[in-house]
Amino acid sequence: MEKLMVRGGRPLRGTVQISGAKNSAVALLPAAILAESEVVLDNLPQLSDVAVYGEILEQLGAGVSWSGDTMRIDPSRLQSAPMPDGKVKLLRASYYLMGALLGRFGEAVIGLPGGCNFEPRPIDQHIKGFEALGAEVSNEHGSIRIFARELRGAKIYLDVVSVGATINIMLAASRAKGVTTIENAAKEPEIIDVATLLNAMGARIKGAGTETIRIEGVEAMHGCRHSIIPDRIQAGTYMIAAAATRGDVVIDGVIPKHMEAMSAKLVEMGVQVIEMDESIRIVGAPTYEPIDVRALVYPGFATDLQSPMTSLLTQASGVSILTDYVYSNRFKHVPELVRMGAGIRVEGRSAIIEGGPLNAAKVRAADLRAGAALVVAGLTVPEGVTEIAGVEYIDRGYDNLVENLRRLGADVWREQADA
Ligand code: EPZ
Repeated sequence: MEKLMVRGGRPLRGTVQISGAKNSAVALLPAAILAESEVVLDNLPQLSDVAVYGEILEQLGAGVSWSGDTMRIDPSRLQSAPMPDGKVKLLRASYYLMGALLGRFGEAVIGLPGGCNFEPRPIDQHIKGFEALGAEVSNEHGSIRIFARELRGAKIYLDVVSVGATINIMLAASRAKGVTTIENAAKEPEIIDVATLLNAMGARIKGAGTETIRIEGVEAMHGCRHSIIPDRIQAGTYMIAAAATRGDVVIDGVIPKHMEAMSAKLVEMGVQVIEMDESIRIVGAPTYEPIDVRALVYPGFATDLQSPMTSLLTQASGVSILTDYVYSNRFKHVPELVRMGAGIRVEGRSAIIEGGPLNAAKVRAADLRAGAALVVAGLTVPEGVTEIAGVEYIDRGYDNLVENLRRLGADVWREQADA
């Protein structure tokens, strides 16, 4: 186990390159199961979750090979096998194996997913979707067993706007007989990315990125080559870090449209945000206005950025309120920020943040984005060293974090954690 050490107080300066989106990658890899020939994915992030997914596909019999940020997946000899335990438990996104295996083989047995469980995260909408397509779903000793003699298209209304359920239903419905429509679908860019891959594999999906998605099932799907969209959450985290350190950073290789909510909130605080074709420049200011932030489904402000945003709001002159309408209690970063001297209290779904300087402390990342919040906080502290334990969570979503920050001038390093 390692810990991350941050000696802050230096404005970040320079350019950071953003890699492919983790939350797309973990859906695109299982989507390849639906093809009957080789799928090549480019621009994959080098993250533990992606590596684990590759290993799961290998266990199922797929040929998997890496070269740089490209993965080749040959699913032609892949077979459906029960996966009650093991690697599936390491990833929340292993739930996409349900939709993909169901679509290709009509059956799947998958252990209930693990991953960043910052609060109960039900999958009832995924199951509702599979059942609507004609599958029988049962919970057997902590594993979900899904079986369908024949998948038939259906009209599915999601009671909760869910990224995972939208994608899982798209996966299964791509190989169902007839037409499926998903109403109240999630609109995240990752959903469009998955639909783009599936269509390149021969699926017929329309409307991805809107609240109604229409999927006409096809009998067979084939391989293709696809390049993953940039990681908007990683990009947003660097935008926040640049602002928090009063730096001047170009975030390169992004789709600025995906960053609109983030950019708007930074501008409201007094940060200069300069959008270019595929990059965004962030120029910090000496003082920031306090603001209100509401984390919502896309195109609203991303819940995955609310934790690092909390750290930035400690740098504003006054009281900010951050409310998460996606998760009711995603605030595991707050007690750690309080250890660093932050004036934050949680009331229901909201964090009330009183701006003020932070101090170095020994803190622990309880999940991926909580970890990102602590890194941002540490970067603002000019004296002492902030020690962040739980680096393995941060590694799930930020590749080359230390290298990237060092290139921007930060004094950051990893050390062996105390026993
Ligand atoms: C995805 O999770 C992301 N993960 C999460 O990113 C992200 O926080 C989340 O979407 C919201 O944007 C991946 O893409 C792998 P949801 P997902 O289903 O799909 C409730 C990160 O830090 N819900 O859109 O699992 C749920 O409890 C991670 O990178 C149900 O009630 O999220 C939540 O309140 C963490 N029933 C809301 O909907 C369901 O069946 C949105 O969840 C499904 C979800």
